[in-house]
Amino acid sequence: MATFKQAPANANSAQKLLTWVDNRFPLSKLYNEHLAEYYAPKNLNFWYFFGVLALLVLVIQIVTGIFLVMHYKPDAAQAFASVEYIMRDVPWGDTIRYMHSTGASAFFVVVYMHMFRGLLYGSYRKPRELVWIFGCAIFLCLMAEAFMGYLLPWGQMSYWGAQVIVNLFAAIPLIGPDLAILIRGDYVVGDATLNRFFSFHVIAVPLVLLGLVAAHIIALHEVGSNNPDGIEIKDKKDAKGRPLDGIPFHPYYTVHDIMGVSVFLMAFTAIVFFVPEFGGYFLEYNNFIPADPLKTPLHIAPVWYFTPFYSMLRAITSEMMYALVACVALGAVLAVFKARIPVLFKAVVVGVAAVVCLAMLNIDAKFWGVVVMGLAVIILFFLPWLDVSPVRSLRYRPQWHKVFYGVFVLNFFILGYLGVQPPSPIGERVSQVGTLFYFGFFLLMPWWSRLGEFKKVPDRVVFSAH
Ligand code: HEM
Repeated sequence: MATFKQAPANANSAQKLLTWVDNRFPLSKLYNEHLAEYYAPKNLNFWYFFGVLALLVLVIQIVTGIFLVMHYKPDAAQAFASVEYIMRDVPWGDTIRYMHSTGASAFFVVVYMHMFRGLLYGSYRKPRELVWIFGCAIFLCLMAEAFMGYLLPWGQMSYWGAQVIVNLFAAIPLIGPDLAILIRGDYVVGDATLNRFFSFHVIAVPLVLLGLVAAHIIALHEVGSNNPDGIEIKDKKDAKGRPLDGIPFHPYYTVHDIMGVSVFLMAFTAIVFFVPEFGGYFLEYNNFIPADPLKTPLHIAPVWYFTPFYSMLRAITSEMMYALVACVALGAVLAVFKARIPVLFKAVVVGVAAVVCLAMLNIDAKFWGVVVMGLAVIILFFLPWLDVSPVRSLRYRPQWHKVFYGVFVLNFFILGYLGVQPPSPIGERVSQVGTLFYFGFFLLMPWWSRLGEFKKVPDRVVFSAH
């Protein structure tokens, strides 16, 4: 049996209670390891607010979700009316619903900023690869969660959006049509689809999401936070083994985060109370019309946070397939002539590239659109191994790297904008160029990320008290 600690003789009742708990559960140990004695770099800037804000939005979504489920009816005949009932008759129902719908968009704003910070400061690089991989899995779950939640109000956009996306799965060769029926539970989106999406949205995906968030933070606390300089603070410690450039998370960053949380809540509540639909971007106008399986809306577009990926899907036309085949062939030629790999590997690369090119020319472009859209997210998982730059943070990289990152962000915005617009010939061309740029940025990273003049990284973090 473990030896029990004794509270000091003069301990008050709170201290005695804590000792009693500590002998049965590692409360003080957890508090010290993750807060009071968790040393975070002293130079963290505003980009480091977004992790805690993502946690806050997660809590908002779970709490408001619990209250919505109390009144919502997952039934195709009643779902739309039950949401209207929440909006009009349930006390505070409109506020809770708007908090949940605004929370969905806020989640993506916060998570996109959080991911971009990782890109800026090379936070995904050794030893934080798993922190990043858990993050990418969270992002995938978040997309599934938002997609399934969007069907629940059973409005026109819910219905037709789900119809379009589920039909995409039918384009997968051999298993596609059966897979689409399995997802829908019917030949068209219907009551069975609503029931299963509800079940996944309220319990299955949130459970996975919570598990992944826990794994994400445990992995981060194992290796410690990166910082804007990309310097490992654990390399320089004092006599007591504390990082010289580290400060205890509590109270320094708990207080610091209160500022970020307050600013965020001001913006969040302003949207919830004054512009909850946010010009049709957070809640689409068409979704205030009940789902009608006999009336297809003129223009079906996903919510803004999916549109960069949706643009990539639409960019893949049969014409674009020739450009993609050329890229695969060029990649194989470069691997044969440039890569230092055994001849046998080179033969395998050529063989695989030939099979892929043949498949690309013979399978419907719609299927490749789905593949490209999926790969656009999957490629993020490999970032820790694609970036081989000699320094972590963008601060110490060549000037043109910064410009390149700027173009990447601009390109992502343009793809997002085009995804909201109805298809047009010029839009199609621009989104094709944008898709090639997006993939080129990542796939050619092992080459370009080590080019140029890098600045000298200082020994200690750069920090001036303010
Ligand atoms: C529900 C979603 C998420 C939550 C609640 C969350 C939470 C957090 C928290 C609290 C931190 C520490 C504070 C900070 O560095 O900002 C953190 C760090 C980090 N997160 Fe997330 N995160 C989420 C999603 C993601 C995603 C989608 C990615 C990337 C694909 C990601 C990648 C990272 C990385 C690389 C770090 C370490 C950053 C550094 O030390 O510089 N996270 N996360």
